Amino acid sequence: MILVATAGKVGSEAVRLLTQQRMPVRVLVRDPAKAKALADAGAHVVVGDLEVPGSIDAAMAGVTAVVLVSPAVPAQELNVVASAARAGVGHIVKASSKASPDSPIARRRGQSEIEAGLAASGVPHTLLRSNAYMQNVLALAPAIAKTSGFGSAAGKGRTGMVDTRDVAAVAATIAATPAGHAGKTYWLTGPQAISNDEVAAVLSRLLGRTITYRELSFEENKDAMIRAGVPEQIAHMNAQAFSMIAEGDADWATQDVPTLLGRPARSFEQFAADYAASFA
Ligand SMILES: NC(=O)c1ccc[n+]([C@@H]2O[C@H](COP(=O)([O-])OP(=O)(O)OC[C@H]3O[C@@H](n4cnc5c(N)ncnc54)[C@H](OP(=O)(O)O)[C@@H]3O)[C@@H](O)[C@H]2O)c1
Repeated sequence: MILVATAGKVGSEAVRLLTQQRMPVRVLVRDPAKAKALADAGAHVVVGDLEVPGSIDAAMAGVTAVVLVSPAVPAQELNVVASAARAGVGHIVKASSKASPDSPIARRRGQSEIEAGLAASGVPHTLLRSNAYMQNVLALAPAIAKTSGFGSAAGKGRTGMVDTRDVAAVAATIAATPAGHAGKTYWLTGPQAISNDEVAAVLSRLLGRTITYRELSFEENKDAMIRAGVPEQIAHMNAQAFSMIAEGDADWATQDVPTLLGRPARSFEQFAADYAASFA
């Protein structure tokens, strides 16, 4: 039995792929109403909360491998790691990012804390350190619909964005067959790093009108996110990450997705076409 905790973008797609392969899969969610499609696909939906260790222990019974992907609050993910260690789980696949204890970005320091706790637990594991998710661009859809443009503090920096469906496919593949992946760190990206001018060009072709990219300062970008409803703390971290992209922080792409999946990583063009309705 594979446990997927939780059912966000990566988690729900990993569950879908595992059910397609007829793997026994359980998914931990706070609200089962949101997981109806996963239950219909054949997953065993269990209600739990990463804040509540007892609920994680209940979900962990009989589990051989865990896909750990959540908002990555250290105490919460370390609850899952501790529960897996107690249950003698054979493997954890942990979704992570460019984790570092010295990062100026708090969530990367948090990821580093979780990765260290995972290493200390002794549970065999694999880290999926992904570049930025293509699905983040969906947050710009309302601005694009309204203004035919979007802004960012990323300047002319390039990002090796990866589609969350590919992150999920890698997580599902490793959870289903962990042999050879223990102790490995994979750096997941799309086929190439692209700039926001290229993102705008792809969206312009897709939508049949000109979509303009505007370079913003850190403060302008943070304020725009807050106005769009992003909590201040998250807007701050996002604006930090975008400013670092301007300096080349995300300008990396690897072959890890095609190597692990035996097919090309999805391109941004493919992502945009698949989500055309969201941008229209
Ligand atoms: N975004 C990026 O560009 C990027 C890049 C690299 C790595 N990552 C990493 O990817 C991970 C996030 O993956 P994602 O984007 O697929 O996640 P996501 O879509 O944001 O989903 C998070 C899920 O966690 C659930 N959740 C939140 N708090 C919970 C709790 N206390 N107990 C149980 N469930 C809870 C949410 O459920 P509810 O519906 O109940 O709220 C939601 O389903 C993080 O580790 C992040 O650092 C992200």
